[in-house]
Amino acid sequence: MDSFLIQGGRPLCGDIEISGSKNAVLPILAATLLTRETCIIRKVPDLSDVHFMGKILRSLGADFTYEHGVVTLQAKRLKARGDYDLIRKMRGSICILGPLLARSGKASVSMPGGCVIGTRPIDLHLKGLKALAAEIHIQEGYVHAKAGRLQGAEVFLGGRVGPTVLGTANIMMAATLAEGVTVIESAACEPEITDLAHFLIAMGAKIEGAGSPRMVITGVDRLHGAEHEVIPDRIEAATYAMAAAATNGEVTLHHMRCDHLAAVLDKLKEAGVRMEARGTSLKILPGGEINAVDVSTQPYTGFPTDAQAQLMALMLKAAGLSIITERIFESRFMHANELARLGADIAIEGPSAIIRGGLPLSGAEVMASDLRASAALVIAGLMCPGRTQVNRIYHLDRGYEGMDQKLRSLGAKVKRVKER
Ligand code: EPZ
Repeated sequence: MDSFLIQGGRPLCGDIEISGSKNAVLPILAATLLTRETCIIRKVPDLSDVHFMGKILRSLGADFTYEHGVVTLQAKRLKARGDYDLIRKMRGSICILGPLLARSGKASVSMPGGCVIGTRPIDLHLKGLKALAAEIHIQEGYVHAKAGRLQGAEVFLGGRVGPTVLGTANIMMAATLAEGVTVIESAACEPEITDLAHFLIAMGAKIEGAGSPRMVITGVDRLHGAEHEVIPDRIEAATYAMAAAATNGEVTLHHMRCDHLAAVLDKLKEAGVRMEARGTSLKILPGGEINAVDVSTQPYTGFPTDAQAQLMALMLKAAGLSIITERIFESRFMHANELARLGADIAIEGPSAIIRGGLPLSGAEVMASDLRASAALVIAGLMCPGRTQVNRIYHLDRGYEGMDQKLRSLGAKVKRVKER
């Protein structure tokens, strides 16, 4: 397992390009199962999760190639059962369930395991598919679904903490080939859902209201191949913006969508980060006095849970107490203990983390636990003087394209080392 060796305490300076969105591309790749024709997806980030999804789609019988950020996919003939071992290992693969069921009338996928950020139930996915007249039964940890032609229906997809992103994606995709009209109430409004809708519409789907809590999908008999360019990764952009602010650097992020990050940019401004937004670029400027802020994570357009850990790292710089409350997942503070090894003082009180910032920090060896927690540890390592070693950075490779190269291009002293 690889580690990052970071010599921290240096400001990041320069320009980087934001890659395509991991959380947009995974459901979009699954959506190609809805047609037997060829689809071409551009600006696909070179991530282990993307290649993993490619393996899963190949195990279902699809042709999948990835070259220089372009994926060419054709699901001519499909098996109803993918490689269970693969499917079980990546939560995002649950979004093959809807398209597979809609295309071939049956689908079997393994229940996604829980993960370090909490249990990852799929009750809302199954509620939605049942509403579309699918028969679902769970046996030995696998979901077995079957249906004649799916039937359009009204379905409320709100859960205990609000909408479900991949649940919305699953039902949306299934509904495109259902008979009649499907109305999804309490649909997720994330930009990744809107991007998926744009791709489905390019394939011939009839979808209105994507990006709003009420989505209406009118089923069609078949979908055709399409080409699509994936939106920029808003969480990657948030991560580098916070790394720039944490190191008092001057960094311009290119090929990004500031409108997808309104809550994050608003919170960073409140924290004293100086920035200039210009079209598809965002420039983070040095010299801002970072102050403590409070935030609760919420469904879009609120502050995203996927940027929570990174903000916690930035708050280590802010004198005084900041409070970060995690409202989406039940245990997404794994990074707090590791940040404490760098000298952070963070108290966890139920769903809230209370950060006493402005304390002296120094480098240490830390362990990554999940994708965004790893990013927080890298930000902290860049920020504090001395050497920080972040272990198990395979977590980072799942969701950040070439992070070490991008950081080095900004002047950071980061080296990827193979664990002995
Ligand atoms: C997506 O996961 C993202 N992953 C996550 O990003 C992100 O944190 C999450 O949405 C929330 O924004 C991908 O898009 C691949 P949810 P998803 O269903 O769809 C509960 C990252 O770091 N829930 O929106 O799996 C669930 O327990 C990853 O890039 C149910 O109760 O998340 C959670 O509390 C991590 N029943 C809340 O809803 C269900 O059937 C939101 O989960 C489904 C979800």
